[in-house]
Amino acid sequence: KGGIDLDIGVLDKFAQEIIKEAGERIRAAFSYDLIIETKSNANDLVTNIDRDTELFFIEKIKAFDVTHRILGEEGMGEKVESLEGVVWIIDPIDGTMNFVKQHRHFMISVGIFIEGKGKLGYIYDVMRDDLFYAIAGEGAWYNDKPLRKLTPVKLEEAVIGINASWVTPNKRVNHEKMIQLIRKVRGTRSYGSAAMEIAFVVSGKLDAYISMRLAPWDIAGGIIIASEVGAIASNLKGEPFDFLSQDTFIIGNPTVYQEIIANYIEQL
Ligand code: IPD
Ligand code: CA
Ligand code: CA
Ligand code: CA
Repeated sequence: KGGIDLDIGVLDKFAQEIIKEAGERIRAAFSYDLIIETKSNANDLVTNIDRDTELFFIEKIKAFDVTHRILGEEGMGEKVESLEGVVWIIDPIDGTMNFVKQHRHFMISVGIFIEGKGKLGYIYDVMRDDLFYAIAGEGAWYNDKPLRKLTPVKLEEAVIGINASWVTPNKRVNHEKMIQLIRKVRGTRSYGSAAMEIAFVVSGKLDAYISMRLAPWDIAGGIIIASEVGAIASNLKGEPFDFLSQDTFIIGNPTVYQEIIANYIEQL
């Protein structure tokens, strides 16, 4: 059974089922102790539940179709160096720090690519049991409600998601311009889960989201939902995001995106 003649409806139903089941398992995990470890630095957290959840997805997907490949943040799947065939890009918990500290505001993010094209995208708010999802070419939904195409917003009325990491010296953007952007917009927010912030952009709760560094699993689900509602995403140079590496990132309502990229962001 190859990837090409897949029934998208069947795949969507299966994906939604395992995402909800993974969410149930994560909610249950709060009744016992989390094992918290660090990765690249003392603030880069991972828990046994991040890893268990990724393994859960791998086992389910391989039982569904052994030819599907899985690229997950915790690296429990095989090495994925191309997007040939069917590739699931998964962040088992996006917002691990929120998961550990706040017990809320963390997402499961899943993007399914077929022969390099994003086909199905999911962002699941585990504690709220809220699902944002899209089927390429067919539309996007927030639970049972269709998501509308985004309409123009003035930059001075925009609310944008951004965290304070742009002020640190190793973040290579023009600070003067960023200061002007922050003065110009109506407000800024920082939620600690890239997938959640992308879900907010595609549903009009934020007008843009900017990050100094994201990985494919942070955005794979969201980018597929984005194209169904007309949100635009790229790196901070305005170039397409590379799905097999890490990059700067911006997603926004089209009018807000254009104005930010043209006048306020200069990646050095
Ligand atoms: C992180 C979150 C966070 C973003 C980081 C990501 P993780 O993902 O999305 O909001 O600022 O860049 O790495 O590690 O919690 O899955
Ligand atoms: Ca992480
Ligand atoms: Ca993440
Ligand atoms: Ca993660």
